Amino acid sequence: MKIAVLISGRGSNLQALIDDVSKPGGPGEIVLVLSNVADAHGLKRAEAAGIPTTIINHQDFQDRVTFDAAMTEAIEASGAELVCLAGFMRLLSTPFIDHWRDRLINIHPSLLPAYKGLNVPQRVLDAGEKEAGCTVHFVRAEMDTGPIIIQARVPVLADDDADMLAARVLEQEHVIYPKAVRLIAEGRVTVEGEQTLIDARPADVPDNKA
Ligand code: GAR
Repeated sequence: MKIAVLISGRGSNLQALIDDVSKPGGPGEIVLVLSNVADAHGLKRAEAAGIPTTIINHQDFQDRVTFDAAMTEAIEASGAELVCLAGFMRLLSTPFIDHWRDRLINIHPSLLPAYKGLNVPQRVLDAGEKEAGCTVHFVRAEMDTGPIIIQARVPVLADDDADMLAARVLEQEHVIYPKAVRLIAEGRVTVEGEQTLIDARPADVPDNKA
């Protein structure tokens, strides 16, 4: 499977995907890393792995729809069949999301549908949660919604600060994102009635509809 990865920053999830595709029997090939930020560290990771990169700066466009159309053009030119958002910090327009429907996935550092949006670890701590986690899901028009493919849970520990908790969650992100990509590459994932099915059975997540 040909994969495009969209980033805005550090790119540690991109690295997890790069590492997984380079294993024998990997899920495919990353054909493009696209960043909206010119100095995103993830671009260096892509270059080190010999993956083509493109920078499309959202500030060069009049509005979200034309920015997103430029991204679609670049992704299509790469031949990618699956688009992975990996710390891509721009909201996407409905035409983009509809165009890539069920071929566009995201990783989010919470147990969706809880804690959509930003600053998740601090909000989880402030709420006194005992458990945190991360989610890979298909992308729908509303932010951080869409059929859930896979989740991982981690404990919140008594002396956690936001950075400690974020690091514990991130470790699991690096496990479940490559897993989700493999499941899709193996043709084991479908979406029916906004529910993710894996091997024709509902995905094993408590709330399948984000
Ligand atoms: C990750 O924690 C990812 O879940 C989060 O940004 C971080 C990117 O890190 N994404 C979101 O919050 C999207 N709503 P990375 O650049 O090292 O992969």
